[in-house]
Amino acid sequence: MINSQLTKSKNRIFSGIQPTGNLHLGNYLGAIKNWVNLQSDIFSIFSIVDLHAITVPQKPSELKSSTHEVTAAIIASGIDPKNSIVFNQSSVKEHAELAWIFNCVCRIGWLNRMTQFKEKAGKNRENATVGLYGYPVLMAADILLYKATHVPVGEDQKQHIELARDIASSFNNMFSNDNDKDFFTLPEPQIFGQATRVMSLRDGTKKMSKSDSSDASRINLTDTKEEIAYKIKKAKTDPYPLPETIKDLNERPEALNLLNIYASLSNQTIDQTLSQFSGKGFSSFKPELIDLAIETLNPISSEMRKLLDNTAEIEKILRDGADNARKIAKPVLKHVKELIGFVI
Ligand code: TYM
Repeated sequence: MINSQLTKSKNRIFSGIQPTGNLHLGNYLGAIKNWVNLQSDIFSIFSIVDLHAITVPQKPSELKSSTHEVTAAIIASGIDPKNSIVFNQSSVKEHAELAWIFNCVCRIGWLNRMTQFKEKAGKNRENATVGLYGYPVLMAADILLYKATHVPVGEDQKQHIELARDIASSFNNMFSNDNDKDFFTLPEPQIFGQATRVMSLRDGTKKMSKSDSSDASRINLTDTKEEIAYKIKKAKTDPYPLPETIKDLNERPEALNLLNIYASLSNQTIDQTLSQFSGKGFSSFKPELIDLAIETLNPISSEMRKLLDNTAEIEKILRDGADNARKIAKPVLKHVKELIGFVI
């Protein structure tokens, strides 16, 4: 199946997810859910990006178990590894090789604008790894190695995809020739759904994140029914009833976040959700949100647990995925090397 799809269409999706800590509702609604919906229309490649994970320190045993868990999570969510490629990034060495080449295309000034590096490095910038700084260059290599045309991600990755486009057009200007005009197509970010930026349950102005020290700030895909119910009950709100229009949510980030989560989980627009709940208080809205979140996430976490009973099978899926990924990556990298003038 995969072999015949490799050549069938020019459209191709690539997206990645880091094997660090718990996957949460933001990862699911901002990315994985969209991957599941797109996979049957466009040939898709999904990577567990372990090379990205080591840009900050990781414990070896935890990195391995997180790689198993994230693979299990995306399969349990509905990604079919028989139709799409699922692999871990470090198994395809071409990612690192193309990233080096792009390091020699990307300008320091471009990287200095990356807001995520500033957030992640924080005040201790001198102590951040070179890998964390160059992270978006590796991300560009991930996408362009497969000549991906579409990249479904959450809002926080938009700037990185714009950088990948800059790297692609700069490479094209430097190296394309008459036979290979516009060698790299410029990838399009695909940021859609009602929850492109899911916010913390404790503070509606902060992104829901794996690295938040408060576990109550996020709903993990592995949370039990009780934990989901507890976290939503405790989620920060305000004392007002839910309004009729979205503009009335301007100053109410926590209310907006919970409504967006509900809309996304129920495949509604925010307007539909508002008309369902306007005039009601959080005491009637939250129990409905709890039911919906449990109904969506509980089957995923139980399927994940089943898959994790057989990590050998998970590793086989990743190995097969890497073999298929390499079938695309190898010739692209070879072509890149020819364009640059390397003797190959
Ligand atoms: P990562 O592992 O941080 O997140 C994986 C995906 O989840 C989305 N996401 C969110 N969406 C909505 N609300 C949130 N609170 C939220 N938190 C995370 C992310 O936008 C992402 O789509 N750099 C990437 C991984 C990567 C990649 C790539 C992605 C590496 N190479 C190439 C696309 C293409 C990252 O760290 O994602």
